[in-house]
Amino acid sequence: MGSPFILLNYKTYNQGTGQGAVEIARACRNVSEESGIEIAVAPQLPDIYRVASEVELPIFSQHMDGVGAGSFTGHVFGKCIKEAGAVGTLINHSERRLTLAEIEASLKAAKEFGLKAVICTNNVPTTAAAAALEPDYVAIEPPELIGSGIPVSKADPEVVSGSVEAVAKINSGVKVLCGAGISKGEDLRAALDLGSQGVLLASGIVKASDPKAALEDLIRLV
Ligand code: G3P
Repeated sequence: MGSPFILLNYKTYNQGTGQGAVEIARACRNVSEESGIEIAVAPQLPDIYRVASEVELPIFSQHMDGVGAGSFTGHVFGKCIKEAGAVGTLINHSERRLTLAEIEASLKAAKEFGLKAVICTNNVPTTAAAAALEPDYVAIEPPELIGSGIPVSKADPEVVSGSVEAVAKINSGVKVLCGAGISKGEDLRAALDLGSQGVLLASGIVKASDPKAALEDLIRLV
């Protein structure tokens, strides 16, 4: 298999807000350059332009809506995040759930604007359903393990391998990420050994006292 994809979600953590968003992105860019591993970040929406202006690395939005140009107050418009510097977006994160119709609309809009789409899911059946929509990635994250420090790749390996198998049957072009509690080299290694092509993670890196060192530890067994 090829090099894994690491997507770091900043959520609304203080450490990843404002100038902190830029500093963590620099750490990611440096580790990515040193290792050759693709690392992308998902800062808060108002920080996308700031990060894109100062650091060269792939940036994802934490959310986008399936709206076009027009009368949509308070929505996240795909064209706007693309022009701000994003190359992709999370859709349906566990902390930003959407209806099935909204997921489909958001994915359609992401494709229209040339944004990569990562649909987040919570179990094997929802992962299979998401894969049928043909996003670039699905990211399986059991909600109960998010932010727990207990890695999904060790606590619930079946949900990762089951998702990988389900997606392979539905659309082998869709890549599978897993997330929740991932922070150490062993966690990423276990995730890859279960067949996932990367990880979606947050607290273990964003809240670390030294995010660069935490990232170096994360990739040490790749
Ligand atoms: O989007 C990543 C996520 O929900 C996992 O969070 O803090 O368990 O790595 P965390």
